[in-house]
Amino acid sequence: MTDRYAVMGNPIGHSKSPAIHAAFAQQTGQDISYHAILVERDGFADAVTEFRAHDGQGLNITVPFKQEAYELADRLTPRAQRAGAVNTLYWNGENLLCGDTTDGVGMVRDLTLNHGIQLRDKRILVVGAGGAVRGVLEPLLEAGPRELLIANRTEAKAEQLATLFAELGAISACGFDAIEGSFDVIINGTAAGLSGELPPVPGTAIRKDTVCYDMMYGNQPTTFVHWCTEQGAQTALDGLGMLVEQAAESFFIWRGIRPDTAPVIQQLRG
Ligand code: ATR
Repeated sequence: MTDRYAVMGNPIGHSKSPAIHAAFAQQTGQDISYHAILVERDGFADAVTEFRAHDGQGLNITVPFKQEAYELADRLTPRAQRAGAVNTLYWNGENLLCGDTTDGVGMVRDLTLNHGIQLRDKRILVVGAGGAVRGVLEPLLEAGPRELLIANRTEAKAEQLATLFAELGAISACGFDAIEGSFDVIINGTAAGLSGELPPVPGTAIRKDTVCYDMMYGNQPTTFVHWCTEQGAQTALDGLGMLVEQAAESFFIWRGIRPDTAPVIQQLRG
């Protein structure tokens, strides 16, 4: 029997997840279906219940429901607990709703495996301190950077995250005007790009060999990727690889098989 999966969000119309999971299923010979479900802002818990009532096996959760999914889950993985968000749901053998997050591990896999970028002993700047950033801090710190600095418009939010993750590594926080020196890796996790804006990172933070990474992606280079390239960065990547990698990690959680992401990333770029 075909196992049912879906992604829930609002909006959801432009989600690439159905195409990604269809490609994974074909590649691995898994008999699954995967659809996008538009959920009303106040209807998330009901939508999950209904999905399960129709034999749904697992869900991806996207904006704006990741925190609600975290609250709804009966069981959370440690990384989801620390992220305060869930992007992957499934029901275990006892029919308990289990929540995990694969965004952070997806981003780190994209950087390290797909692009061959070392994070160990590196000086990393993470820009932004919202839910997206909180979701990537644990796997980033696990990669063993020398220093991880979070810079945010609202400095207090960056400080809060630094305190929350302090036991995992060398993490500190500041406002944009206190960013000093250059970095080996800069990751943009702000929502500034949604309105075509740039977070005010000083150009001096970027060297030729700085790896710049935008967690966002688009058909065109994102505002941040464009700006980093203008500052002379030779490597400026968008978050399409992260999207495919987080999907692969969810697929692995559900199906126990790890799909090959390279052809799927290539297909989406095309
Ligand atoms: P998400 O779930 O996408 O992380 P969020 O939790 O609302 O969304 O966080 C958005 C992040 O983008 C925050 O770090 C926000 O900065 P503030 O905490 O100061 O609000 C940041 N952000 C949004 N627009 C920005 C802009 N124009 N310039 C700089 N930072 C911006």
